[in-house]
Amino acid sequence: MAFTRITAAEAAALVKNGDNIALSGFTPAGTAKAVTAEIAKIAHAEHEAGRPYQIGIFTGASTGQSCDGVLSDENAIRYRAPYTTNATFRKHVNAGEIAYNDIHLSQMAQELRYGFMGDVDWAILEVCAIEPDGKVYLTAAGGIAPTAARLAKKGIILELNAFHSPKSIGLHDVYEPLDPPQRKVIPIEHPGDRIGTPYLQIDPSKVVGVVECNLPDEARDFKGADPITDKIGENVADFLMADVRRGIIPKTFLPFQSGVGTTANAILGALGNNPEVPAFNIYTEVLQNAVVDLMRKGRVLSASTCSLTVTNDVLQGIYNDIDLFKNKLVIRQSEISNSPEVIRRLGVIAINTAIEVDLYGHANSTQICGGKMMNGIGGSGDFERNAYISIFTCPSVAKGGMISSIVPFCSHIDHTEHDVNIIVTEQGVADLRGKSTRERAQAIIENCAHPDYKQLLWDYLKIADKGHTAHKLSAAFAMHDTFLREGDMHLTNLASYVK
Ligand code: COA
Repeated sequence: MAFTRITAAEAAALVKNGDNIALSGFTPAGTAKAVTAEIAKIAHAEHEAGRPYQIGIFTGASTGQSCDGVLSDENAIRYRAPYTTNATFRKHVNAGEIAYNDIHLSQMAQELRYGFMGDVDWAILEVCAIEPDGKVYLTAAGGIAPTAARLAKKGIILELNAFHSPKSIGLHDVYEPLDPPQRKVIPIEHPGDRIGTPYLQIDPSKVVGVVECNLPDEARDFKGADPITDKIGENVADFLMADVRRGIIPKTFLPFQSGVGTTANAILGALGNNPEVPAFNIYTEVLQNAVVDLMRKGRVLSASTCSLTVTNDVLQGIYNDIDLFKNKLVIRQSEISNSPEVIRRLGVIAINTAIEVDLYGHANSTQICGGKMMNGIGGSGDFERNAYISIFTCPSVAKGGMISSIVPFCSHIDHTEHDVNIIVTEQGVADLRGKSTRERAQAIIENCAHPDYKQLLWDYLKIADKGHTAHKLSAAFAMHDTFLREGDMHLTNLASYVK
């Protein structure tokens, strides 16, 4: 079947006010981007003409400026799920203008299939090759593409993006599970196991057009490692090696998952470059620059991921050396890369970054001072809850020391004390395993808090009521409250909060 070529503007014109679109991709990697930028122009024109125009957007994870950025700026997003990292989108969400549903990434495809979020009208998929019978080859991410394509009621739009080389064919392992009660075991026993097909089979009769384009991915560049992230990485590596020596981690090591952002990228780099740490495997959702470098050096043996969230030069480097990477790299759907079943079976060691952590080990990944969304939970909950060892890292202070990342009580909780084993800052490591709540609080203050805030945290612990997770509620958010009023968490009058 020969598919009709259409322009991005023609494709965008098919999407009507009130429609829901589901996109390929996971992070800006592999996300359809030509058509959404044109939808933003339509929204602009419709709003200028005084007509309503808003759509719902379903994705694998975050997107880039050409989706979340321009569409939120045009007030064109009615509903959005799940994770995003876009600063423009963040501004509009925090202004209360967008209905944002921040769910675990492993759950996104199945919640669409279960019908929790309404119909998928259009699937817009970025591909690097198309066969006449409807076999399409995804680009830099697995995301929710099979579910998006299958559920799309009005049609499928394909963005054939020449930026992504067809040499990458073979990296993907496309697999969509059945839903309960028919769901089967996901048969992955090693990070590199392949259980699906290298292509996504779509129904060719649903394709309304192919948009040819040549657009780079919109992956963010990272701030490089700095002495703080280097020290956190060193602390993580030392802790893990001590666990190997104690026989808690097998000598052959276990697969790693590492989260998103600057800290996570730097930590994996530090782990990989530590000669004491043996070469390891990765089972993760987001593969960042540091891992590609380690794969080239033979320090990472194989990597299973949902997306290549790397800078464009690194992505082109992978395509240019595809023979090296095809043997070592597999790209999966997010419900497989983040599957609790597989993570627990493989014994993944999960390392994610928190915004703040409290005295009992609850972790906040998403909100600044309780109410301002940062990015979203992403896959951190999928991995941390099910990990062999669940590690959270963060610098002990933020914003030049005005904020302590260790607080009496998290202003928002994404990961409960029951799901968190280890906290690591540049100050040291708090091993919470097997500890009572009181012992955890002591370990966290002693080993992880910044010296500027230690006394304040000890003072809080002293005034907290007795009990299992002791708190003095009137003072539990005193540090946050002081920051919001004075721009600095260094409060000197903790006693005034004790009511
Ligand atoms: N209070 C206020 N702001 C804080 C803060 C705190 N306790 N801790 C960090 N921040 C700010 C930083 O100052 C920085 O602000 P800036 O962008 O204005 O410079 C911003 O948050 C990001 O922090 P940074 O230190 O650059 O961290 P990062 O790039 O490593 O990202 C998270 C950290 C938590 C935002 C990021 O890891 C995330 O989105 N996590 C949730 C999703 C997730 O874990 N996914 C993993 C599964 S793969």
